[in-house]
Amino acid sequence: MNIILLGPPGAGKGTQARKLVEERGMTQLSTGDMLREARTSGTEMGQRVAEVMDRGELVTDEIVIGLIEEKLAGEAGGGFIFDGFPRTLAQADALGALLDKLGQSLDAVIEMRVDDAALVARIAGRATCGGCGEVYNDTLRPIPADGKCSNCGASDFKRRADDNEESLKQRLMEYYKKTSPLIGYYHAKGTLRPVDGMGAMDAVASEIAAALD
Ligand code: AP5
Repeated sequence: MNIILLGPPGAGKGTQARKLVEERGMTQLSTGDMLREARTSGTEMGQRVAEVMDRGELVTDEIVIGLIEEKLAGEAGGGFIFDGFPRTLAQADALGALLDKLGQSLDAVIEMRVDDAALVARIAGRATCGGCGEVYNDTLRPIPADGKCSNCGASDFKRRADDNEESLKQRLMEYYKKTSPLIGYYHAKGTLRPVDGMGAMDAVASEIAAALD
């Protein structure tokens, strides 16, 4: 089964993708994570990507489609979770064409609905484990009192350069302008499954499971 997690910044796409990987053995493909890796590569392309991401704008379709194409060539026993991809209609068309070429289908697009005010609160307090990528939040899911990740025991936590008020405003604008048209696109294709992303993490996970089974 191949699925997309679609939603604004901070909707919980990464959090839910990690649960699906654990519970269903799926493979998470996060273009955000791939781009954050590229920005540390020291190349000129990495530098350009870093500047665009820090401003909260979208990286070019050409770059992200290339990244996804490379990953799709690999194995995914439990299927792929596309997390943060596609983000434009051109990316959605490209994904459809790539899956067709591989004889695969897109089975569901989970649209995670969260109010803007909640997004701001979630992003403002986010911290990610440097060891395994587990996602925490200062108020909503605090780092354990012993300062160690509950998943892998690492004690270094990262804050993202684009998790600030200015970038977030731009990221939301990009979402509403360029990504939200995908809701209509996938609705027309019959694959859209809206989910209430405002609940607690486990409640959201149950809704997603119900939408997939
Ligand atoms: P990306 O890394 O994809 O960021 P994003 O879409 O802005 O989404 P986030 O990672 O911020 O949020 P999330 O929905 O994963 O939420 P999370 O689970 O972490 O992209 C970053 C940048 O890369 C883009 O701005 C762009 O520049 C570039 N880029 C990436 N893909 C691209 C593409 N395809 N095309 C072009 N450019 C691209 O949760 C957030 C917080 O909330 C956490 O603290 C978590 O603990 C908490 N939380 C989660 N769920 C809940 C819940 N149910 N209740 C309470 N708290 C919760």
